[in-house]
Amino acid sequence: MNANNIKWQQHDINSQSREALFGHKSAVIWFTGLSGSGKSTIANALEQALAAQGKHTYLLDGDNVRHGLCADLGFSAQDRTENLRRVGAVAGLMVDAGLLVLSAFISPYRNQRELVKSFIPQGKFIEVHIATPLEVCEQRDVKGLYKKARAGEISHFTGISDPYEAPEAADLVLDTSVTSLQDSVQQLLALLKEKQIIS
Ligand code: PPS
Repeated sequence: MNANNIKWQQHDINSQSREALFGHKSAVIWFTGLSGSGKSTIANALEQALAAQGKHTYLLDGDNVRHGLCADLGFSAQDRTENLRRVGAVAGLMVDAGLLVLSAFISPYRNQRELVKSFIPQGKFIEVHIATPLEVCEQRDVKGLYKKARAGEISHFTGISDPYEAPEAADLVLDTSVTSLQDSVQQLLALLKEKQIIS
C-alpha cells in the first residue's frame, strides 16, 4: 500500500450539507457488550424509534457484517481488530453520508473501540455499554454458543475463554437484566437529545 501518491478529494456536497438535507445530525451509537447482552435487540428497537421519527439510520450488526465484509475473519484478537477497523471505516463513511449509525459489536478491547473512534469526527461517537452480567447472558444462551464454549467447542469465546474490557467512561450503561427494552430506548433517545443529535 502506498498512501504517498493518494490525495484526499474534497467534494462540494459534504457531511454538513447532508445533515441539513436530512434535518438531523449524523453520529455513531456504538453498542458494546458480551454476546447475548442485548446489543442487537436494543439497537433494533432504537432504530425503529428513530425511523418512526423520520430519521435516516443504518444498523451495522456483528453477525451480519461477518457474513460479507468480514467473512474472512475469525475471533483472535488480531482478527477482531481487523473486523472493527473495517467496521470503523464503514461507519465513518456512513456518518459522512449523514446517517445515524447504530453499531452492535462485542468490540471487547478498549484499544479496538479507540480504533473505531479514530474514524469518527469528534463528538459523533457515542459509546453505550450493554452491561448485562455474564451469568445472565450465559443463562439466556439464545444461540447456544456459551454451552459450546464451555464444552471447549468454540475457542476465544468472549467472557469464557477470551477477555472483555468494559468501557471506563461510556456515555450510557444499560443492563438488560434490570432495565426494560422500552426504558432503554427512552434513555437512548434522551441521550441523543441531550447531545443535540436529534431534537
Ligand atoms: S467482535 O469481537 O466485535 O469482533 O465480534 P462481533 O463481530 O460483534 O461478532 C460477535 C458475534 O459472533 C458470534 N460468535 C462469537 N462471539 C464471541 N466470541 C466468539 N468466539 C464467537 N464466535 C462466534 C456471536 O454470535 C456474536 O454475536 P452476539 O450478537 O454478540 O451474540
